[in-house]
Amino acid sequence: MHKTIDYLIQPGGKLTGRVRVPGDKSISHRSVMLGSLAQGTTHVSGLLEGEDVLCTLGAFRAMGVPAEGPDRGSLTIHGVGLHGLKPPKNILDMGNSGTAMRLMAGILAGQDFDSELIGDESLSKRPMKRVSDPLMRMGASIETAEGERPPLKIKGGQKLRGLDYPMPMASAQVKSCLLLAGLYAEGETIVTEPAPTRDHTERMLRGFGYSVQTQAGRVSLRGGGKLLACHIDVPADISSATFFLVGASIAAGSDLILEHVGINPTRIGVINILKLMGANLEILNSRTVGGEPVADIRVRAAKLRGIHIPEEQVPLAIDEFPALFIAAACAEGETTLTGAHELRVKESDRIAVMAQGLKQIGVNARETPDGIVIQGGALHGGEIQSHGDHRIAMAFAMAGLCARQPITVRDCKNVDTSFPGFARLAAGAGLSICVI
Ligand code: S3P
Repeated sequence: MHKTIDYLIQPGGKLTGRVRVPGDKSISHRSVMLGSLAQGTTHVSGLLEGEDVLCTLGAFRAMGVPAEGPDRGSLTIHGVGLHGLKPPKNILDMGNSGTAMRLMAGILAGQDFDSELIGDESLSKRPMKRVSDPLMRMGASIETAEGERPPLKIKGGQKLRGLDYPMPMASAQVKSCLLLAGLYAEGETIVTEPAPTRDHTERMLRGFGYSVQTQAGRVSLRGGGKLLACHIDVPADISSATFFLVGASIAAGSDLILEHVGINPTRIGVINILKLMGANLEILNSRTVGGEPVADIRVRAAKLRGIHIPEEQVPLAIDEFPALFIAAACAEGETTLTGAHELRVKESDRIAVMAQGLKQIGVNARETPDGIVIQGGALHGGEIQSHGDHRIAMAFAMAGLCARQPITVRDCKNVDTSFPGFARLAAGAGLSICVI
């Protein structure tokens, strides 16, 4: 039994100074995957050393990929080439990470050995049909557990064929899974997305010298090429920066700079939504690092107002809603979210768990099938169950800045999956947070 970790946040405080949050989780996973499958030695700097990424790295090490690190964000991977992986001796444990499991499924479907992917209690409940279905249409052999959930048993030695796939949901994990399987497929793999989703896989494949075509919601590649090692500089994760963007917006007197944040256009929904709510955000020193746009973001406290969140922003801010709901709770008026059913199948049902937590601290929040309605108002203190969801835990920690009494957040251990050192960094910027 693991020791549980809770947060106790005292009300008040403001966020000031300069903060660099850890590396981008999505880009970190992909750097380990493509670095392992490349020819030559890939150096990664700024890697997120969170548990999710360590699961991905552990899986490749178990399949014979030599790697040194990570050490303070530096990782050296001696790629084995697309056909150089060895059969793992054991089942591969993807922990809490949906990204690891779904993207690995695409890679493993193309190998000539059998493999099995498992996950923790949360991941074991998450839907896998969205990847197993199209992969099987490409010729893969995948067995799922009841309800098409993990574990995934993948039979090797199958001949994959390219697929022309209109994705039923806007998911970068599904798109990436199919593109990775497409590296092993005969012919062309085409994925059409119903709305733009994060494009880190496409960008990084190109960085590794692989030809990928993109036009108006359609991404395609041909199997049979090769990946060539390169250097990857991982920007700070905008999804982790979000807790500070919201915290500084809601806490009077805050003035904070977030350094070296990835501002890929497919990830900046949070900036767009906060600006619509009246947030004071300034993008400074925009630059491109390793094919990804990066900037420093200055955020100062502002009076926020409730809005109807534009549906086209939903996939661009999909991981940011727990924090955005806290912003909505502190805003004047009503905020409504629609078109966000996907939030129900994240690390927890983020609509239900956030609505429950908000009510717990006196906020009027009402769930709808695909969203939520939140009335801004005073936040009391209280006890919040994070249900083991890292982003729920960090969102309610920031709520403490605006609450009238202390907030206790239960079950925060999984914050280490995406943001190791969160409490220390937040305390350094001015949040009165204790780990208990
Ligand atoms: C991710 C895609 C998103 C996101 C997840 C990371 C990725 O999931 O929620 O945290 O790295 O591709 P979906 O593809 O399920 O929307």
